[in-house]
Amino acid sequence: MNVLGIETSCDETGVAVFNAQRGLLAHALFSQVAIHAEYGGVVPELASRDHVRKLIPLIRRVMREAATAPGDIGGIAYTAGPGLIGALLVGASVAHSLAWAWGIPAVAVHHMEGHLLAPMLEPNPPSYPFVALLVSGGHTQLVRVEGLGLYQTLGESLDDAAGEAFDKTAKMLGLGYPGGPALAKLAELGVPGRFKFPRPMTDRPGLDFSFSGLKTHTLTTLATTDESQQDKADVAQAFQEAVVDTLVIKCRRALQQCGYKRLVVAGGVSANRLMREKLDQVSKEEGYQVFFPRLEFCTDNGAMIAYAGCQRLITGRMDPPEIRSRPRWPLDELEPTG
Ligand code: KG4
Ligand code: ZN
Repeated sequence: MNVLGIETSCDETGVAVFNAQRGLLAHALFSQVAIHAEYGGVVPELASRDHVRKLIPLIRRVMREAATAPGDIGGIAYTAGPGLIGALLVGASVAHSLAWAWGIPAVAVHHMEGHLLAPMLEPNPPSYPFVALLVSGGHTQLVRVEGLGLYQTLGESLDDAAGEAFDKTAKMLGLGYPGGPALAKLAELGVPGRFKFPRPMTDRPGLDFSFSGLKTHTLTTLATTDESQQDKADVAQAFQEAVVDTLVIKCRRALQQCGYKRLVVAGGVSANRLMREKLDQVSKEEGYQVFFPRLEFCTDNGAMIAYAGCQRLITGRMDPPEIRSRPRWPLDELEPTG
């Protein structure tokens, strides 16, 4: 079965065709970064309008690249939430319209389940069970994953998500949008050890996170300097190390608590080089395996949605015909499949 995947939850229009036996046939992404850059963040209405402009041409292109015609598609998977409601509605409407016209099912996919399953698209995918660290612009969650759809949130951010903390701190340092990759790049030039940032909530038991205090710490630290490029790089270095260390500490704690030996790290921040290096190193030392998506599938994409939808469709799952879009949608509410 070929599944067409559609991702429009935020500022990337992503489309892919995934085949249940052969894997990923084609995928493409249209990034709206240039549209939102001058505003320093995502403008929801502009995001929706651009999805309207880009989605159909992108579907045509990806289906051509996958050498598939409408008659070859067995189902359509679309991101139903969480995300920006206007942006979600564009993907959902197009998915349901095409599904109705082609006489095939449309299946609603949870965006964070898409991220969680992204490493399944790699040559050595993890087997169940595992702990997943989901780190994106909107979410920071540790999840116990016992199987497809069997998710239990172990801990999450009480305030800013990790990606959001990167973005907001980047703004304070005068870096453009999106801030995460820009801050990570500046941090490479920083002198380690000049500033020491706290590792929030690691001194008490539990698996929740809090990153908003690091913003204040950034501001007060910056105020003690001349705010030269080197000062900013040193602050970026200390900030990045604090976020990454905090995430690594909680991952180890979650693995210990579950008694699992496999860790999946996904979502935009999983593209962070320091985090990948540290987790690779710690996993070798402590004898567990860590799985990441390839870099282009860390951030939002259509491939992870096509994959997640396919796993649900091959079990014969049928969603009701109405359009489903949920800006808020806890991962634990998903039904198990299989
Ligand atoms: O998963 P994603 O594409 O979108 C959401 O679902 O939110 O994640 C985007 C987030 C942004 O906050 C971005 O700054 C962050 O991921 N990000 C990074 C890096 N690449 C993307 N943060 C730190 N280091 C990176 N290399
Ligand atoms: Zn995402």
